[in-house]
Amino acid sequence: FEVSWDASAADKGGWSSFMAKEVSEEPEAVANTVRGRVKDGRISIPELEGLDELFVGIERVVILACGTAYYAGLVGKYAIEKWSRIPVVVELAHEFRYSDPIVSESTLVISISQSGETMDTLMAVKEAARLGAKTLSICNTQGSTIPRESDAVVYTHAGPEVAVASTKAFVAQITALYLFALHIADVRGSLDQAVSDEAVAQLEALPSKIQWILDNEQDRIEQLAGWMADTRSVLFLGRHVGYPIALEGALKLKEISYIHAEGFAAGELKHGPIALVEPGQPVFVVVPSPRGSVTMHQKVISNIEEIRARGARVIAIAEQGDSAVLPSADEVLRIPLASPLFEPLLAVVPLHIFAMGLATAKGLDVDQPRNLAKSVTVE
Ligand code: G6P
Repeated sequence: FEVSWDASAADKGGWSSFMAKEVSEEPEAVANTVRGRVKDGRISIPELEGLDELFVGIERVVILACGTAYYAGLVGKYAIEKWSRIPVVVELAHEFRYSDPIVSESTLVISISQSGETMDTLMAVKEAARLGAKTLSICNTQGSTIPRESDAVVYTHAGPEVAVASTKAFVAQITALYLFALHIADVRGSLDQAVSDEAVAQLEALPSKIQWILDNEQDRIEQLAGWMADTRSVLFLGRHVGYPIALEGALKLKEISYIHAEGFAAGELKHGPIALVEPGQPVFVVVPSPRGSVTMHQKVISNIEEIRARGARVIAIAEQGDSAVLPSADEVLRIPLASPLFEPLLAVVPLHIFAMGLATAKGLDVDQPRNLAKSVTVE
């Protein structure tokens, strides 16, 4: 008799899809990206050894990427500016290239790419280098083109990512950006050791916190996604580092479940998006910790009250113990406590699970969404 052997099922390691496997690997993606980069309490990135002079005179950072990697860049901006006080702009790589960009030898261009082959990003890096900028690549693929075209590289150690929609690479990209932010601050002498120690402790604690979400919230989020299988539009709101997470939550939903989804900065709500809110409209809200900024927390709670008053169905992502969300949210998805800058690495996990759950409930192929490619090698 014949033994049936499904090679793709084997690669998935028993998971129903590569995406399910890759979401389950988010804790390891962060842990492996941190591993070997902290020595005696200091950030020490082997790939950057001997390259300090590249970063000493930097006056401005420009982050370039596309898709999910661009949102990782938006998160990274907050950490680089906070720890090194170097101004950062984040641009879509394809917009940068044709914008007659202002860069010089004192500009560091950081490109972010899982594949290292995205043509839009590659061409933008080449243009930046031609204009004299220093170039650093954050990449998940050893030996790929973008790192080869860059002055330096910091690899994310997320492992191979197969599903078209990026998940574990995203958390690894933010992790690598944070490590680099600490490194450049250290090289320039602007880093307080206590701040660095605290950041390293936060990074090292992330994997078990992400695992907590997978162990305790995944089933409930998938159930919620199942109930929402007929939803036609979902909105996502976030503030500060939660804003790029709202954008990422919306992108993931568009990519794999073909549902209209938009992410907004919560503060922007009253300037337009609130007009979209009608009874029954699902809105995910990433709630910042009140321990970070009481004001920001209160403002987001008011946003929740405003949309709820107009009939929105509010799904809040909030830290454990935040009871201020309870009166106005229909659902609260919990994340463990973390310092404010590290919350995005937790808040994104429920959104990845939700997009996957909803696409699965609609019977779609979560690994190979229509019209999309894992690596876009044309401009
Ligand atoms: C494609 C993929 C996205 C990805 C983007 C950037 O559009 O569908 O999932 O985020 O490319 O890819 P990169 O490999 O450069 O990170």
